[in-house]
Amino acid sequence: MASRVTAPDVRSRKVARGSAPIVMVTAYDAPGSLIADESGVDIILVGDTLAMVVLGYEDTLHVTIDDMAHHTAAVARARPSAMVLGDMPWLSYHLGVDDAVRNAATLIRAGASAVKLEGGAKRVPMIKAILDAEIPVCGHIGLTPQSVHALGGFKVQGREAGAVRGLLDDAQALVDAGVFCLVLEAVPDEVARMITEAVPVPTVGIGAGPHCDGQVLVYHDLLGLQDRIRPKFVRTYAHQKADAIAAISQYAADVRSGSFPGPDESYHLPEELAATFGRDAAVDDPEAVLAFYGDDATMSG
Ligand code: KIV
Repeated sequence: MASRVTAPDVRSRKVARGSAPIVMVTAYDAPGSLIADESGVDIILVGDTLAMVVLGYEDTLHVTIDDMAHHTAAVARARPSAMVLGDMPWLSYHLGVDDAVRNAATLIRAGASAVKLEGGAKRVPMIKAILDAEIPVCGHIGLTPQSVHALGGFKVQGREAGAVRGLLDDAQALVDAGVFCLVLEAVPDEVARMITEAVPVPTVGIGAGPHCDGQVLVYHDLLGLQDRIRPKFVRTYAHQKADAIAAISQYAADVRSGSFPGPDESYHLPEELAATFGRDAAVDDPEAVLAFYGDDATMSG
């Protein structure tokens, strides 16, 4: 295994200074983590989108720190060389700095090597406390989905002059607090460019145009595993929901027609026993057949 991507590695990756763009993708379990890692991404975000794309909720407000730790641990168990970035869920950093540090530590103990939290200048005390506990923090501004009710929906942010200034101020406040990178979600591309040029840490965009220092997409969106919500900024690289439906429909048809399982997908008695106990033989003693198979029933043959 290559050594794991670290926060200082990410911190140094500004495209304007010649770095390759950062590639971040979400994952929520061990197979997703392996797939993302074998695809060569830099950062696997165990996002609180878990609530929507895996657990079936309407928004991200329903996952707890225990949910996030459970899925962070699953992602980390795949031992990716990408950074595992744990997302702090709603109310895990709003109740005070001690609570924020404790919850960030829960994600680190689950296997993350950094945490992400949403919000601008008002999060600075929590960010500083988490950094004081030696945990790297990634910021997240623009559309912050945990504020869905306060924002009045999942809406593009930073479209008025005051809001643009607010985002620039928030970005600077987070950088001054010490974040190692900054996610920009659903902001106009020009605003993302201004922030990217203004801050010394890399920006990672989602719905923020091409001028960021990296991009992040949600696993289920980019692989076409869900089609319930389809934001404009998603590029779908595969159609895995359609492929899975086709595959499972074919399996159902094969079971119903009797063509699955076939001889190659079944275990068989050895020739000599088939004559004694097989389909056409009269089985006098079924217990003896079971005793004979005993431990041998799981393997090939
Ligand atoms: O939870 C998540 O998946 C995220 C990304 C959309 C950036 O925060």
